[in-house]
Amino acid sequence: MRCWVNILAFCCWVQGNMAQNFNQPSVTQVTEPVNMGESPVWDRRVGKLFFVDIHDGRIMAYDYDKQTMDVAAEFSGNDLTPIILTKNNPNVMIAGLNRNLAKIALYNKSAEAHILHTVQNEKPKNRFNDGKADSRGRVWIGTMGHEPSNGSLELNAGALFKFSKDNVKTPTVVIPKISISNGLTWSLDGTLFYYIDTPSEEVVQYDYYAENGSIANKKVVFSTKEKKMGYPDGMTIDENGNLWIALYNGGSVIEINPSKGTLLRRIPIPAQYTTSVAWGGPNLDVLFVTTAKRSLTLKEREGQPGAGSLYAVTNLGVRGLPEFEADL
Ligand SMILES: *[C@@H]1O[C@H](CO)[C@@H](O)[C@H](O)[C@H]1NC(C)=O
Ligand SMILES: *[C@@H]1O[C@H](CO)[C@@H](O)[C@H](O)[C@H]1NC(C)=O
Ligand SMILES: *[C@@H]1O[C@H](CO)[C@@H](O)[C@H](O)[C@H]1NC(C)=O
Repeated sequence: MRCWVNILAFCCWVQGNMAQNFNQPSVTQVTEPVNMGESPVWDRRVGKLFFVDIHDGRIMAYDYDKQTMDVAAEFSGNDLTPIILTKNNPNVMIAGLNRNLAKIALYNKSAEAHILHTVQNEKPKNRFNDGKADSRGRVWIGTMGHEPSNGSLELNAGALFKFSKDNVKTPTVVIPKISISNGLTWSLDGTLFYYIDTPSEEVVQYDYYAENGSIANKKVVFSTKEKKMGYPDGMTIDENGNLWIALYNGGSVIEINPSKGTLLRRIPIPAQYTTSVAWGGPNLDVLFVTTAKRSLTLKEREGQPGAGSLYAVTNLGVRGLPEFEADL
């Protein structure tokens, strides 16, 4: 008997140490759920992971040291996404507010959104979705068609836009006829642009010229179509040049090698609607993952009590890079 107990203890000890030695990824829920989490971004200037609760028009802030969440801005009755850090000012974000590109002050209840420009007046029910700044501070931000709550979507009604300091009122349409403009990032050497139009179930790349901000030569680097693993949504890149992608209705994030088109890892997240990813923490080695509970039935919510919250994935053995800041 005594021997049996010792063997069990030994096995547990070995297992525990293996977990540490082999750097098993660890997934932790770090906030209370919101309705529709999206657009995570780490601001190293304030040590916070910001994200949005789209349909409640809220910018949430997770304080990494204090491990607390608060509301940094609120525009209820509006769809708010994405949020993009601005150069030289951690108190102001560039944001998509319905179809408006806006400047939003954080932690100031009396401040109104300052609208810079409104796109697609001919499509009043469209709204902005994902977006980011490039290395030159230009803002790449796309729209999606009208999506009634029953899950139908107007296809090919969106577009990817590019705003720069000298054309805030006349943005360039970079890619027309997009259904749900989503994840975007650039290769480490700044010569490729990676992009996701979610319903296409594809991750594509374009040649990218940082100097003039133009793209060319579309090429598919990964598809989830045959794999039935969920829809590619938000995306970021790591220090090795691999892409990390949240799978909507796939309850996971995946790591892919875009030059080989291979799936490297799949990390399960206990929330079916995994929406986006961003590196954060002081060492940029925590992968923050946003999720949604909006599309879950009441029954499904019981089985996924963490759906809608922010998760932190640690022990991945890889780091990210700071996101670029908007300069408009
Ligand atoms: C908050 O916004 C209001 C209105 O724009 C402005 O007058 C005030 O100075 C701002 N407060 C702070 C602390 O920035
Ligand atoms: C969803 O609602 C829209 C209009 O609100 C309707 O046109 C469409 O047929 C509906 N789709 C489904 C699958 O029920
Ligand atoms: C941008 O620069 C690249 C490389 O010099 C060039 O091939 C391309 O034609 C330019 N695009 C535009 C729109 O000027």
